[in-house]
Amino acid sequence: MTGFYPATRLRRTRSTTWSRALHRETLLTPADLIWPLFVNEGNGLEDPIGSLPGVSRWSVDRIAERAREAVALGIPVVALFPNTPVELRTDNGSEALNPDNLMCRAIKAIKQACGDDLGVLTDVALDPYTSHGQDGLIDDRGYVGNDDTVAVLVAQSLNQAAAGADIIAPSDMMDGRIGAIREALEGNGHANVQIMSYAAKYASAFYGPFRDAVGSRGLLKGDKKTYQMDPANAEEALREVELDLAEGADSVMVKPGLPYLDIVRRVKDAFEVPVFAYQVSGEYAMIEHAAAAGAGERDALVLETLLAFKRAGCSGVLTYHAAHAARLLGA
Ligand code: PBG
Repeated sequence: MTGFYPATRLRRTRSTTWSRALHRETLLTPADLIWPLFVNEGNGLEDPIGSLPGVSRWSVDRIAERAREAVALGIPVVALFPNTPVELRTDNGSEALNPDNLMCRAIKAIKQACGDDLGVLTDVALDPYTSHGQDGLIDDRGYVGNDDTVAVLVAQSLNQAAAGADIIAPSDMMDGRIGAIREALEGNGHANVQIMSYAAKYASAFYGPFRDAVGSRGLLKGDKKTYQMDPANAEEALREVELDLAEGADSVMVKPGLPYLDIVRRVKDAFEVPVFAYQVSGEYAMIEHAAAAGAGERDALVLETLLAFKRAGCSGVLTYHAAHAARLLGA
């Protein structure tokens, strides 16, 4: 006996497994996960990505296998990124508009394999198709022009929707593109194709392994700071989200993820709309390398970071750990 006791013991509800389960505020399930997949030319091929340990590029037939795996795991959506053959990359990224490009063939193969059991999200931006690695059309000085790029992104979106994409996800950060894409989708018989806008996408140092995966790292000249956001800014993220919602976005994304959970929370509180976050390639690599170095336990790091997104207000998370996490959650 010390003669002292606290009026409130917050440890009381933490004292047993059943009580912790009862008081848990946030739930993470496989339905919260969006699985990004990289597509390669070829047949029957898996091509591991050096800077993303455990992640591969898949040929179209193998992508359909991954899609069936996603359904079996309870993952509702996959996100597609093509590694366009270098000889098809041009200054103006015209391969993005080819109805038979890698992206469109992958969309069709997945829709054929899984139908409405799985949503297909497609990235809209020109970087996997341009010889300079920028997301849009550049002038002589390398500046990415806005309005002429938007015209191409509209055509790219229609190309993806025609192939069967369910969610168009513009990641380019041009001004006014959501409104232009929405109008084109409505006008071309795609009223139910959703738009998930990469609304607050930052010019981040965490995208390196992704650029390896889609083959744009070596090609990229300069940086993307004239269109992607300054990591110092938060109020500006709210303006981006407000505009994209007004232009017709169904949901919005914050990217990268973990270093930007303050943005997720502010967006959720301000707009009360579905907010998603992208736990990007560099974040994935940090977890993998930390675990490999013995600095933490991999499965626990994966589940804790994904739970943190939900707690911050996300409806779901794009993560390269999606299949692994879904397996852990299903166990
Ligand atoms: C393309 C795009 C990028 C990512 C998603 N879409 C790279 C970039 O903007 O340079 C990054 C995803 C990741 O790092 O996992 N516009």
